[in-house]
Amino acid sequence: TAERSLTIGGKQYPSDSWTNVPSSILDQFGRSLHAQKDHPISITRSLIESRFPGFQNHNHLPGVVTVNQNFDSLGFTKDHPGRSRTDTYYINKDTLLRTHTSAHEVDVFKANTSNGYTISADVYRRDAVDRSHYPIFHQMEGALTWDRKDFASSADLVAKIKEDFEKLPKHDLVVEDPNPTFHLERNPLQSEFHTPEEAEAIAAHLKRSLEDMVVTIFTEADKALAAAGQGAEGEKESLKVRWVEAFFPHTSPSWEMEVWWRGDWLEVLGCGVIDQPLLNRAEVSSRVGWAFGIGLERIAMLLFGIPDIRLFWSKDQRFLGQFDESKPIRRFQPFSKYPAAPRDVAFWLPKTGPVVADTPASTTSAPSPAGGQVTEPSTSERPAFHENDLMEVVRNAAGDSVEDVSLIDDFTHPKTGKHSLCYRITYRSLEKTLTTEEANALHEQIRQELASKFGVELR
Ligand code: PHE
Repeated sequence: TAERSLTIGGKQYPSDSWTNVPSSILDQFGRSLHAQKDHPISITRSLIESRFPGFQNHNHLPGVVTVNQNFDSLGFTKDHPGRSRTDTYYINKDTLLRTHTSAHEVDVFKANTSNGYTISADVYRRDAVDRSHYPIFHQMEGALTWDRKDFASSADLVAKIKEDFEKLPKHDLVVEDPNPTFHLERNPLQSEFHTPEEAEAIAAHLKRSLEDMVVTIFTEADKALAAAGQGAEGEKESLKVRWVEAFFPHTSPSWEMEVWWRGDWLEVLGCGVIDQPLLNRAEVSSRVGWAFGIGLERIAMLLFGIPDIRLFWSKDQRFLGQFDESKPIRRFQPFSKYPAAPRDVAFWLPKTGPVVADTPASTTSAPSPAGGQVTEPSTSERPAFHENDLMEVVRNAAGDSVEDVSLIDDFTHPKTGKHSLCYRITYRSLEKTLTTEEANALHEQIRQELASKFGVELR
């Protein structure tokens, strides 16, 4: 057969048995919503950038990266589940669509052109289909380092970090931080590289900087709500944040920040003290510091009151025309919602492999920082049916005409041991009313593809 290749962003890449990136993703590749004037994702990016004065902002790093950049350079183990083909879009076995902005950390540290930087970009993950998950979303990475070489001693370095901390904007936010800065087993200090005082000073600076950022965001969100006459009068519940221990291969100790806003704890970002071996690989071993990663969609949805993540991809002026980066943030005015057309598909799984079902990603994915679910490796010849495969069949057939895919029944026959699943696919276009015939045709195509690709027996 002719040599197979994919063209992405004008460049050709050979494909191989690892290739799993569908054309529906490539069609949207490189739209860079975070850099599109007056786009809500871009407005959100600028608002966050404005809280990190003096940082260098990288907004145009290309989305095709090596496996090394995305995983190895950050210290991901060879068997880390995030590397799985069920979660990641591979162009070939060495090349992929970045799953997070951290893929550029080592390169940017190596270039060593500023103490602080942000990287905003589109990132790609195979994931669920619902109103808050889309296989392409946007993240912002931020990092700040200090160079030991600028100081005579560790005590001087710590004194400088503390002095910088004192210069950060103060806030009167309620902060719950029940955990010690580090915990020897759960969230260790990198004791080969950092003294406890260094780790504590870096962590304090990190947390205060990020608290300041969320105060800014949620103050803007409250102002926009008040301007729309939707302020939480009377029961004005105060904003709170809490710090939760977390794990990332590229930071230690690590945390997630959760924000209490309008009655819910929201996971907002992941962060930590930068892994020192990572900085060594970037040839800046004398630097120490912190990094965070935040998903922009969730923040933009809260700020503007955008109810469905697919709207960000709309080219409809009724959507795009509502945002203006030179004006204060205004709540999105929903335009008429077209009717939903739910259809169920039920099938028996083939007996060949284990089922791997994902729970929705945790933080940065659509809007969560971590993502990357634990998936068990398949033991059978036929690729095990993975929920993300179903999601992809649905996206490829129906694109943005599907609002949600949910498992509604999961049943194992007591006698035969056969396993049946039923999913409800909710069809609803943002652009028009789908006719019964259109919804049926999409649904039938999806059913047939499930049967032919995964050998499921339709019920
Ligand atoms: N890369 C992490 C993710 O995608 C987020 C992160 C960035 C965490 C930087 C810590 C530091 O979930």
